[in-house]
Amino acid sequence: MSDYSQTPPQIIAIANQKGGVGKTTTSINLAAALAEMGLRVLVVDLDPQGNASTGLGIDADAREATTYDLLVGELPLDRVIQDTAHDGLCIVPATVDLSSADIDLISNERRIFLLHDALRQPDMSAFGFDYILIDCPPSLNLLTVNAMVAAHSVLVPLQSEFFALEGLSQLMLSVREVRQSANPGLRIEGIVLTMFDRRNNLSRQVEEDARDNLGDLVFQTLIPRNVRVSEAPSYAMPVLNYDSNSQGAEAYRALAQEITSKHRLMAA
Ligand SMILES: Nc1ncnc2c1ncn2[C@@H]1O[C@H](COP(=O)(O)OP(=O)(O)OP(=O)(O)O)[C@@H](O)[C@H]1O
Ligand SMILES: [Mg+2]
Repeated sequence: MSDYSQTPPQIIAIANQKGGVGKTTTSINLAAALAEMGLRVLVVDLDPQGNASTGLGIDADAREATTYDLLVGELPLDRVIQDTAHDGLCIVPATVDLSSADIDLISNERRIFLLHDALRQPDMSAFGFDYILIDCPPSLNLLTVNAMVAAHSVLVPLQSEFFALEGLSQLMLSVREVRQSANPGLRIEGIVLTMFDRRNNLSRQVEEDARDNLGDLVFQTLIPRNVRVSEAPSYAMPVLNYDSNSQGAEAYRALAQEITSKHRLMAA
């Protein structure tokens, strides 16, 4: 049993409207790293691409009940949670069905609260999760808004490349809007630099700019560009299982440590 088991889970939305910055990679591997620490983790795949589901080994034909059924069909949470092959790690998988959620929910007055209602239910601690990580699509659409309304915090992966900081202000604006309306407690969990290459001046410049502009919001942990990280999904495994000693695996373990130490301090 973990320290947190009697309290409701910490819900973290992993979001950036920019595509291909490492949202799904971070969702999968941070989840695996937290689970490796003995915590119980649920990944909610909120992207119609379903990459987090694939990366955690849930084949398309094994996705019987999905995030779409949770949001649009209003199936109860316990009907859509599936085990993965990894101890302590569960998932609500997604399929391409989810791409019509915006339209299907247009006349639903609670449409921005649907994920909130599912994940912040009063008896949530009975599920025994310590963390819920929501893998958002590359857009600031209704799905991402649902994630921000449901979450305690937003974790932003930022790719270490030119233009990385562009678009961040738009994301921050969305966070502010959600805070002013539906979810006043929403925090920024932090910004994590992904695909970082120490030998590359540009990577180091992006880090410097990010730390100058965003200060403590930027995690100390840098996620290196590491080929083992990019290979792991084709084996339907987190890099922590695919190559446990790789730099990518170690980096995600360090990120999990950084996040849990912060949460322990906040809870104290
Ligand atoms: N640290 C890393 N080292 C090497 N490759 C990486 C790393 N992180 C991510 N990648 C690769 O970069 C690509 C994009 O990553 P990922 O799918 O996690 O981004 P995303 O933000 O979820 O994308 P989308 O916006 O399409 O959902 C993938 O091919 C992934 O394997
Ligand atoms: Mg993704």
